[in-house]
Amino acid sequence: MRMTPIAIVLGALAILGAVVFVVVFYPYTTRDMTPSEIFRLRTQEEKAGRAIYIANGCVYCHSQSIRSIDWGHGADRIAQAGDYVQDQPILLGSQRTGVDLSQEGGEHPDDWHVAHFINPRYTRPNSIMPPFAWLGMEKIKTLTRHIQGLGFKQADRRMERQNHWKRESIKAYEAGPRGNAKWLAETVPEGWRRLPNPYPTTKAGLARGHKIYQDFCIGCHGPIGDGMGPAQPWIYPPPLNFTILKGKEISGGILYYQIMNGITGTGMPYFKRDLESQKIWEVGDYVAVYFINQSDANGEPRGIDASWEP
Ligand code: HEC
Ligand code: HEC
Repeated sequence: MRMTPIAIVLGALAILGAVVFVVVFYPYTTRDMTPSEIFRLRTQEEKAGRAIYIANGCVYCHSQSIRSIDWGHGADRIAQAGDYVQDQPILLGSQRTGVDLSQEGGEHPDDWHVAHFINPRYTRPNSIMPPFAWLGMEKIKTLTRHIQGLGFKQADRRMERQNHWKRESIKAYEAGPRGNAKWLAETVPEGWRRLPNPYPTTKAGLARGHKIYQDFCIGCHGPIGDGMGPAQPWIYPPPLNFTILKGKEISGGILYYQIMNGITGTGMPYFKRDLESQKIWEVGDYVAVYFINQSDANGEPRGIDASWEP
């Protein structure tokens, strides 16, 4: 065959066409459209929120595709092809400047998200996510509906729990400081309530606790622990004013348990994935010493003295 210009052009087009067919059309037309077991259709409001998510480039910092290599990051479930069958465009994302959001629904109650969208540094003092206050409250609420639906049926189950405990925590808060302190302590299992902080109070420990408090807690609980951080107007029940715990039986174990696990239904997030054990004890002792003015650090019963300090 003669290599005329026409033969070269037609040959090149044929090769291109074959490649496009094999890597684009064939997979597109034969893809599996079976919904996964957690799948459900989005509500109108969730669709509107998704449009805001697309318009504001959230996908450039957040993935929605969690893979088996992410078990180590505390993944709840590995994403399946059947999770995405209504997505057009898909928002898998290729960057994780922020976190993966495929199971974000129900991780926090709505008030946490509203405060976080207004200014991420209210709830996460070191965040590099841009503030979205300029979207206005209506769009922030719509966006929140989308985020709370991420994870579909699993997200719905988590939201049910959040809403149940939201009602309980509001009831406790509105019953007054004494009742609230009692209710909060009762959310902690018995064994933890009797556990003192195993580390002694030291100057270095308090300085580390102070730093952790500034990096993670100050936006809600405020610089003097009275719950008046900048997030306060958006969070209800409001961030705890630690001074209401004065004179109550507040053990290091209660503080540890609450900081580790968060308090479902309230804005109080869990820190089990951000802070290792020693840091939780230390920020707990910082709160105990400076805001509650009573610390049981390294007190009785001993026996699990995990301290490497004198
Ligand atoms: C410049 C990158 C960036 C952009 C753009 C961005 N985020 Fe973030 N996002 C982050 C980082 C970093 C974090 C972790 C710190 C924090 O909680 O603020 C985060 C955290 C979050 C969280 C909380 C996750 C959790 O449970 O702790 C949500 C929800 C979220 N982003 C949603 C959004 C939405 C919706 C948009 C678009 C309106 C967006 N983000 C845009 C970087 C970004
Ligand atoms: C997004 C806001 C927010 C952030 C950030 C936050 N908290 Fe909280 N915290 C709350 C709310 C809300 C409550 C519960 C208030 C209520 O139900 O009355 C709470 C409750 C608590 C309690 C429960 C006390 C008890 O008696 O059971 C402790 C301890 C606590 N926070 C410590 C911390 C520490 C330490 C940090 C930082 C590592 C932190 N919190 C970060 C909002 C926050």
